Amino acid sequence: MKQEALEVLRNRRAIRSYKEEQVPSDLLQKVLEMGTYAPTAGGRQKPYIVAVQDPDTVKLLKKLNGRVMGNEDADPYYGASTIILVLAPKDYALADLDCASILVNMLNAAYAVGLGSVWVHRSHEVFEYEEGKALLKKWGFEEELQGVCSMALGYAEGEHPEAAPRKEGYVRIV
Ligand SMILES: Cc1cc2nc3c(=O)[nH]c(=O)nc-3n(C[C@H](O)[C@H](O)[C@H](O)COP(=O)(O)O)c2cc1C
Repeated sequence: MKQEALEVLRNRRAIRSYKEEQVPSDLLQKVLEMGTYAPTAGGRQKPYIVAVQDPDTVKLLKKLNGRVMGNEDADPYYGASTIILVLAPKDYALADLDCASILVNMLNAAYAVGLGSVWVHRSHEVFEYEEGKALLKKWGFEEELQGVCSMALGYAEGEHPEAAPRKEGYVRIV
């Protein structure tokens, strides 16, 4: 049994406070690579993964995500200096499922390499804003894409959170 892998799956938690220190490229590469090994429908690998470390772009993504929540000054990425986005073609019916599959792999990989991470929502709206569309263009995407999900990535600040108790009746073997 791959005990270490099971421990990663059990102990990964959403991290909502980050140190300023940037994620080194070798660890970032590992997390991204594990995203590319996630299952996608039919193995078609339709989504795209974009890692953002440029401070101005990180700032803009925080602002746009905050705008969706009604507060551009909020930091929905909790001070993280790396943001990873998962996007998919607009006309792709399984976009949400594929992108979620990829994001979960990367959340677990982050914990496995000693980094903190948290899933951050509202990417659909972010990439409907003109500023969001302009970013996609700047990054060289020619097909029309939708933002599906994203994550903060960085060195966790503070205590590792405890998991909430699992609900009664969560699982049935029938
Ligand atoms: C679809 C989805 C959207 C989420 N969006 C956010 C978010 O926008 N901000 C945030 O802080 N956490 C977000 N989370 C993280 C959850 O709140 C977190 O996983 C949950 O509280 C359980 O904690 P754990 O990950 O430590 O087990 C999201 C999780 C999922 C699955």
